[in-house]
Amino acid sequence: MKAVLMDGFGGLEVLKVGETDKPSPQEGQVLVKVVATSVNRPDLVQREGKYPPPPGDSEILGLEVSGTIAELGPGVAGWAVGDRVISLVGGGGYAEYAVAYASHLMRIPDSLSFEEAACICESYITAFLNVFMIGDFQDGQTAILHGGGGGVNTAAVQLCRALTPNSRLIVTAHPSKMERVSDLGADLVINYLENPDFTDIVKEYTGKKGVNLILDHVGAKYLAPNMNSLGYKGKLVIIGVISGIKAELNLALMMVKRQQIIGSVLRSRPVPEKAEIVAEFTRRALPKFADRTIVPIIEKAFSIENVVDAHRMMEEDKHFGKIVVKIT
Ligand SMILES: NC(=O)c1ccc[n+]([C@@H]2O[C@H](COP(=O)([O-])OP(=O)(O)OC[C@H]3O[C@@H](n4cnc5c(N)ncnc54)[C@H](OP(=O)(O)O)[C@@H]3O)[C@@H](O)[C@H]2O)c1
Repeated sequence: MKAVLMDGFGGLEVLKVGETDKPSPQEGQVLVKVVATSVNRPDLVQREGKYPPPPGDSEILGLEVSGTIAELGPGVAGWAVGDRVISLVGGGGYAEYAVAYASHLMRIPDSLSFEEAACICESYITAFLNVFMIGDFQDGQTAILHGGGGGVNTAAVQLCRALTPNSRLIVTAHPSKMERVSDLGADLVINYLENPDFTDIVKEYTGKKGVNLILDHVGAKYLAPNMNSLGYKGKLVIIGVISGIKAELNLALMMVKRQQIIGSVLRSRPVPEKAEIVAEFTRRALPKFADRTIVPIIEKAFSIENVVDAHRMMEEDKHFGKIVVKIT
């Protein structure tokens, strides 16, 4: 089968399109004929050799697939060859065929194209898991969502608008993307270049109460402003550490304000845990895609032959929302 392969680890130059063996589905898995996948920031980190796939998962890049079922593995019921599906995969999305657990599959609503559907699993499930399942974000509450133009963060804004319409959303964004973030539904957009410490802006906006939830992938550099912006019983959910991994924490303040800091990853969770997350997402969020309340934002769709350009676009932060790679 055709796949994106790598000549070792490193920059864009290691990516190449070639031929490799087709995987075969094991117990509880299906083989998906992949139509499209999308680029996620962790793919770039994996390409650089700093984010290996969990043991047993494909070494090929790609955390999600959108396509049709080509074959059922042993013990799979409730699915048929030809079904239009999307799925999280531990790896292997940048290929003509990928194996996925049947318990991680979602049926693509008729109203969605394969390309739109290819944007859902990694970004929207990450946002949903951390904002709603872990963060327990409720309508009427206030959140800070960092990184307005990114895949996970645009997903988080759209999900919050759809599931908690009366919530208040503060989003940090690059100045070139602030207007689009605002149009997407953010109530307050903060220029992150001008305001590396956003505490005073948040305090003023919330009448000194602080926010209920922060979804953060910036890490060390934002720990102090995050904690100072978090209200009583607030939750800081950390899903990335792009600015570094070590920072000082005022434990007394955290204790007195009864705040929580929670670290979270999706990819390395056990199969049954991911199945529970997918089931909850299917129940609460997928109907919002089916009726097109939420429409994935595609900056550009590249063919597999141009996968280098797709990675370059993310590396240069030129995108707003998602970057799709069309496989077939
Ligand atoms: N833990 C998990 O389970 C999990 C799963 C998926 C992704 N992630 C992590 O989540 C992050 C986002 O992934 P993605 O696929 O959405 O990547 P992405 O599309 O490239 O989004 C990253 C965004 O970060 C923003 N950013 C950069 N510097 C910032 C700063 N100082 N303050 C605020 N925002 C800043 C940029 O926003 P602008 O566009 O406004 O410049 C950029 O668009 C990555 O760190 C990734 O590793 C974690």
